[in-house]
Amino acid sequence: MSEALAHTGNASSLHTSGRAARRVVEESREQVAAALGARPSEIVFTSGGTEADNLALWGTLAARRDADPRRRRIVVSGVEHHAVLDTVDFLVDHEGAEVTWVAPDTDGVVTPEAVRRAVETDPGSVALISVMWANNEVGTVQDVEAIAEVAHEHGIPLHSDAVQAVGHLPVDVTGSGVDLLSATAHKLGGPMGVGALALKRDAALVPLSHGGGQERGVRSGTLDVAAIRAFAVALTESVAEIDPEAKRLAGLRDRLVESAVALGGGIRPGGFWRPGDLSRRLPGNAHLLVPGCDGDSLLYLLDAAGVECSTGSACQAGVPRPSHVLLAMGLTDDEARGALRVTLGRTSDDGDVDAFLAALPAALERARRAAGAR
Ligand SMILES: Cc1ncc(COP(=O)(O)O)c(C=O)c1O
Repeated sequence: MSEALAHTGNASSLHTSGRAARRVVEESREQVAAALGARPSEIVFTSGGTEADNLALWGTLAARRDADPRRRRIVVSGVEHHAVLDTVDFLVDHEGAEVTWVAPDTDGVVTPEAVRRAVETDPGSVALISVMWANNEVGTVQDVEAIAEVAHEHGIPLHSDAVQAVGHLPVDVTGSGVDLLSATAHKLGGPMGVGALALKRDAALVPLSHGGGQERGVRSGTLDVAAIRAFAVALTESVAEIDPEAKRLAGLRDRLVESAVALGGGIRPGGFWRPGDLSRRLPGNAHLLVPGCDGDSLLYLLDAAGVECSTGSACQAGVPRPSHVLLAMGLTDDEARGALRVTLGRTSDDGDVDAFLAALPAALERARRAAGAR
């Protein structure tokens, strides 16, 4: 990234520096496409996952409704990130959209059958379906391919927020059948503020930003060349090491969960968890349900001990509401309040897991005392 930052040049300019910048962008596009199993022309660079989600949902709703005014309904899972949930709420409040929420099972799995039931009440009214690839809180991985089959039986496009999966699990846009897929660089070692929407060539989309006509006219705005280059490099490296890294992280995850559960006191993993599993839960996601205390207290106590983790979604931190994901999975408010999410990544090692496990008992005791005193 710093190498690319040393060069000036707007990728839309025709002079020498501009053409050099354009080359960097197009090479990066080829790398991102190769890593995602898409064609280069199917990659639209964005400022990250949130923008990709907004563009996918709003842009598809607008395009599908233009073609047939009956298509106003969005079928969406109840475990989505706020970048999807709040966009859907906005579209209902301001764009005349309707929504059918699809509930997950107790592990956070959104079954293709549940999606089918939601669609088949009135398939002709559905503008699009959106189901995330992997959940950011409990790490549950969805059967996106089977859900794409349901969508395509009815000629409906499927969007998948794959922000948590890309770089950590095999993600193949073409093979999976998804029509629109969101990704972001900062979940795989790249910089913040850059990502992509992979968009099938025949997917109809109305642009949300208008101006210079960059990115096939779908996403106007001068491109951040250095960030795009860094995204492509980080993604390429992540994908090259995906198998050994997933195995290594799942090993750390499993030791963390097993040791935390062994502390007793009713601690249990949230979401689907089976030791050694590499396909149904994100390898680097450990989620603990800790009865009798507040996840937020635990977070601050662990932070003071040098361990940084989160409760629900990091993006919700500071909002004292139990996670909508856990509630959708059928947990009570009280159960959901004691949630702790520990995420492991490329720089995490056994020493980090040891440090977490060493800090946990004292943090638990103090958090429980604080909860008891209230
Ligand atoms: C599942 C999911 N979708 C979307 C986002 C938002 O992505 P970005 O931070 O790149 O806007 C996040 C970020 O945490 C996420 O976990």
